[in-house]
Amino acid sequence: MEIIAIANQKGGVGKTTTAVNLTASLAAKRKHVLLIDLDPQGNATSGTGVDKNELMLTIADVLLDGVALSEAIVTSPAGFDVIGANRDLAGMDITLMSKTDSHELFKTAMKNLVDAQTSSQQPPYDYVIIDCAPSLNLLTINALVATDSVIIPMQCEYYALEGLADLSQTIERLTELNPKLYIRGVVRTLFDARNTLARDVSAELEAHFGDIMYKTHIPRNIRLAEAPAHGLPVIAYERWSKGARAYQKLAAEVMKQSS
Ligand SMILES: Nc1ncnc2c1ncn2[C@@H]1O[C@H](COP(=O)(O)OP(=O)(O)OP(=O)(O)O)[C@@H](O)[C@H]1O
Ligand SMILES: [Mg+2]
Repeated sequence: MEIIAIANQKGGVGKTTTAVNLTASLAAKRKHVLLIDLDPQGNATSGTGVDKNELMLTIADVLLDGVALSEAIVTSPAGFDVIGANRDLAGMDITLMSKTDSHELFKTAMKNLVDAQTSSQQPPYDYVIIDCAPSLNLLTINALVATDSVIIPMQCEYYALEGLADLSQTIERLTELNPKLYIRGVVRTLFDARNTLARDVSAELEAHFGDIMYKTHIPRNIRLAEAPAHGLPVIAYERWSKGARAYQKLAAEVMKQSS
């Protein structure tokens, strides 16, 4: 089982779109995948067609009340497993802080899930994908402490370069809490190849990150923006759209890293 957090403290760069569509594309390649929403906005939850306001149990119950992760799993209409989030998670930072090992709650829950699956001889997940909020709060720290690696979605615009130092520093700092943490890859999102600035920033990212840049560029594609309104990953909404094909290529790259 590989845990991958999708993180970038910058907002609106395509984290959730990547989390949902990478999960769906891995599932389409017959991988057993679990998507976990760690953002109070609950976008990954609703984007997979799960009604975030009707959930019996969310990730908030896991972190606050010690409910087992396995109990909070629901099957999305698209067919893969999801642990949802909603507003119940908002403001939890402060509540969590009062707990001992507040930064390790999610890691412990993940470990318990693996143990439970092993003892009940359930098939383990191949991948667990975590959608993070656009901030470095205690929830994101919990994700980065529990995960094996991070995928960073980046929009190729000037501010992405400004945020680079912050991001690298953050991950560097977190290796103290999670020594195995590494950047699995950086994926260019909302990409428009006709835009000169996008091409320039893309080249700078390549110079900075080198081999860990994914070759797949996710284009700006209207189908990717429309699909969540239908509660579907793009692969189930418009299978042959540019966006769907790009995320399938990205999933193939991610799987190749595992082999
Ligand atoms: N490749 C794309 N083409 C077109 N629209 C996109 C694409 N990627 C994301 N979007 C749209 O851009 C907006 C932001 O994307 P998304 O929610 O995935 O970003 P995010 O990083 O998760 O945001 P937040 O930081 O708020 O969690 C959404 O409306 C989404 O539908
Ligand atoms: Mg998001």
